[in-house]
Amino acid sequence: MNPGEEAIIEQISQEIQSLFAGEGTGHDWHHIERVFRLSLILAGKENADPFICALGALLHDIADHKFHPDDLGKNQRDAQAMMQKYAVDQKSIQKVIQLIGEISYKGAGVATPVSTIEAACVQDADRLDAIGAIGIARAFAYGGSKGRPLYDPDKKPVLHNDFDSYRKDEGHTINHFYEKLLLLKNRMNTTEGKRIADERHAFMELWMARFFGEWEGRC
Ligand code: ADP
Ligand code: NI
Repeated sequence: MNPGEEAIIEQISQEIQSLFAGEGTGHDWHHIERVFRLSLILAGKENADPFICALGALLHDIADHKFHPDDLGKNQRDAQAMMQKYAVDQKSIQKVIQLIGEISYKGAGVATPVSTIEAACVQDADRLDAIGAIGIARAFAYGGSKGRPLYDPDKKPVLHNDFDSYRKDEGHTINHFYEKLLLLKNRMNTTEGKRIADERHAFMELWMARFFGEWEGRC
């Protein structure tokens, strides 16, 4: 990144940090910061444009559909407004808006292809933060924020074939593992993303075996 780009990233980081400090659903500043850091590591390995990845990571959840279900375009509009405020060039704004539209998970049966290497890096980084030890913590923080049970053995997972039924599902949090988290390792774009995902996935499987063992009184 050149010094001008670095200055923009610093200013937008500061603003996003103050907007998302203390958020309680697992979409807080620290999620954004982890996605930002990991996106830049993946970008380095993939020769992706770090400025686009940095903007995409910082702005990807600025108005997430989960918190604005009646206004699905708000995420991209708010991201655009933030970039205009800090005088990001028009070409970069377009790339970041497209990236933000591509990266989100939309259901087990819905393909979410990315059209640039930058979107590939940010999508992998965002998904890596949804799995492993932190992913488990985030899933229960989110489920708790929506008042959902940890688990209900009578309610089986649903592999959604369209975004609308995925986003409107209100099932318990263990189902979310089958509907999303356990599927992510096979949806990675980058070699390094896949390597990290395999490790985090293995830990989630261990954790789940233990969870069911304790639930059923086997350990
Ligand atoms: P995406 O845009 O791919 O949905 P986010 O960065 O917005 O990714 O974060 C998604 C995270 O939100 C999930 O990994 C999980 O932690 C949480 N989440 C979303 N839906 C659910 C759900 N139904 N139950 C539990 N956690 C959920
Ligand atoms: Ni995210």
